[in-house]
Amino acid sequence: MSDLEALKKEAAVRAAALVESGMRVGLGTGSTAKYAIEELGRRIASGELKDIVGVATSEASDQLARQLGIPVEPLDPRPLDIAIDGADEIDPKLNLIKGLGGALLREKLTEVQARRFIVIADHTKTVTHLGEKAPVPVEIAKFGFLSTIERLRAMGLGGRLRQPGAQPYVTDNGNHIFDAQLPESFDPATLERQLKGTLGVVETGFFLGMAERAFVASPDEVRELTP
Ligand code: A5P
Repeated sequence: MSDLEALKKEAAVRAAALVESGMRVGLGTGSTAKYAIEELGRRIASGELKDIVGVATSEASDQLARQLGIPVEPLDPRPLDIAIDGADEIDPKLNLIKGLGGALLREKLTEVQARRFIVIADHTKTVTHLGEKAPVPVEIAKFGFLSTIERLRAMGLGGRLRQPGAQPYVTDNGNHIFDAQLPESFDPATLERQLKGTLGVVETGFFLGMAERAFVASPDEVRELTP
């Protein structure tokens, strides 16, 4: 395991320790969240955790959880006790950019329903302001996606349609993703509102004011951050 992977795992194990028997747990997506799901699976297998229900934020996490013996249910209107997920950028107020793994819509639907939303990351994910390193993924409807991209460009947003191969990337929800380059200076809440008001936009990767705390692992320590 590389040093960075070991850090992701350390952060994930710290967050997974907050899960208690009987909880309904939002299961994140991505390389860091995977370690949290594995840790929950380990704790269930050892008999330490009982009666956990997971709500998965992607088909991949759903499959991993089931393989590890974590019962998985679809999202319903009941609150979740806790949700644990990674992030692509974390600012000092714990506002996030998420969705480089493509699961932003299910992540936001799930994590907004959690009483506690815990972020896990290695130290490379912290920034002083959002957009420093990562684009913001914007999930857009497949139908008419080129027209939606024109509308985004007309707002002054650079960026590109996510297309890892010959075809555009398709999310678990059958949509595409436009990875928007963020302007030098912008207000995330205002941009989020503008994006959500744009025809064809399904969801954005801005997760603002949602996280309760973050465990951020660096080679020296795991820092526990609050907004
Ligand atoms: C998935 O869509 C994302 O929001 C991930 O949670 C995020 O990209 C972090 O992923 P890693 O833990 O793989 O960096």
